[in-house]
Amino acid sequence: MKQKKPWGGRFTKQTASSVESFTESVSFDWRLYQYDIEGSIAHATMLAKCKLITEKEKDAIVKGLKEILAEIEAEKFEFKKSLEDVHMNIESALIERIGEAGKKLHTARSRNDQVALDLRLWTRNQTRETIGLLAALQKEFVRKGKAVFGLIMPGFTHLQHAQPVLVSHYLLAYVEMLERDKTRLQDCLARLNKSPLGACALAGTTLPTDPAFTAKLLDFDGVYENSMDAVSDRDFCVEYAFCLSLVAVHLSRLCEEWIIWCNDEVKFIEISDAYCTGSSIMPQKKNPDVLELIRGKCGRAFGHLTSLLTLLKGLPLSYNRDMQEDKMAIFDASDTVQTSLSVLTELVANTNFHGERMMLACEKGFIDATALAEYLVKKGVPFRMAHEIVGKIVRECIRVQCRLMDLRLESFKAFSSVIEKDVYKVLGVENCIKNYKSHGSTAPGFVKKRIAYWEKKLSKG
Ligand code: ARG
Repeated sequence: MKQKKPWGGRFTKQTASSVESFTESVSFDWRLYQYDIEGSIAHATMLAKCKLITEKEKDAIVKGLKEILAEIEAEKFEFKKSLEDVHMNIESALIERIGEAGKKLHTARSRNDQVALDLRLWTRNQTRETIGLLAALQKEFVRKGKAVFGLIMPGFTHLQHAQPVLVSHYLLAYVEMLERDKTRLQDCLARLNKSPLGACALAGTTLPTDPAFTAKLLDFDGVYENSMDAVSDRDFCVEYAFCLSLVAVHLSRLCEEWIIWCNDEVKFIEISDAYCTGSSIMPQKKNPDVLELIRGKCGRAFGHLTSLLTLLKGLPLSYNRDMQEDKMAIFDASDTVQTSLSVLTELVANTNFHGERMMLACEKGFIDATALAEYLVKKGVPFRMAHEIVGKIVRECIRVQCRLMDLRLESFKAFSSVIEKDVYKVLGVENCIKNYKSHGSTAPGFVKKRIAYWEKKLSKG
């Protein structure tokens, strides 16, 4: 026997099964059940307060919904595709369970404001979770940064040796990045946290309702001001998908770097065996697949952002069924980035830095050349001239195959008479690090303070 549709009154024919399976969304929107029930409880409470249903009816609805929630949680609830979506599945189950009172739940409500509400509640929750995961990764970077304090690595530009930096400074760069991700998500929360419930189908209702009351019950900061906007708006999904995409970009940059760093030629890091995988044919292999997958999953996050933008761009006001397609995109974007964040946090905790290898790498590439140019500036040479002089000195070092610090004072003097014995106090990696001064630089004192700053800030929240 075919299931009777809640909207069946106007229809004389049964829905074709191809249409049923094409239009159903319960196979993926069942994930909204918790928010759907939470929203329905608030709605029923409002209906009773506004005397649209009796207290008794409200109690029956709340009890019934709580039982359904428990059933779903115990995996005893059967979601039926013939009932289209999570909303109609739960409402039908309620009616089956409590009868007449259940039929009153949908008073002054449409699935249009209902789904807008559920999705907002879901997104609010996931946004908060993502912020928590970002904070956990930040903590791991800070912990690592503290543990390896003093280790020096070549800093890169164009993937070429540039200037030496503390490994801690490098790690804290990611902490800053992730902090921006967190605040960006917080900003979205402020815009998202307005209740659409009460907008009904698109125009509101002739019944005496109190949308501000349901908004308060559901912990929103406010309520919609325009019913048409309330049911049409999916900006919060787009914003969340964008934030997730940018998080994915940040993670991917680190992954790219670490994939290079665990390569045999570089070997700056060693990732624990537990976070690498092997090859089915080459017995010696230990591959950074986790990092590669995180880098690869970026494409999924970007794809979902593009889907959402494309989905909305041609939509007339107000609700259109196209919008059902928003869920798979935002669910998967969120799942993908969240799992990437948590596995990366574990991987960072299980990665060691090869201090000696990094130090050895610092010997190559004249990474103290800028320090030498600044030495000349301190002796009164205009920077552009200093740059030219040091360039020539580097060329000489390449010719005789030595480091800058291996040149004798006379050789230096041949390039600039202002160079004195004290030049050896600026050359070499350790001297470079010691001599950094500027705000936000890799100066050890500054980095140490920043570690303390982050430790304190992250322990609060
Ligand atoms: N499953 C639908 C969605 O996700 C719920 C809203 C349906 N509204 C409607 N008027 N058909 O968008």
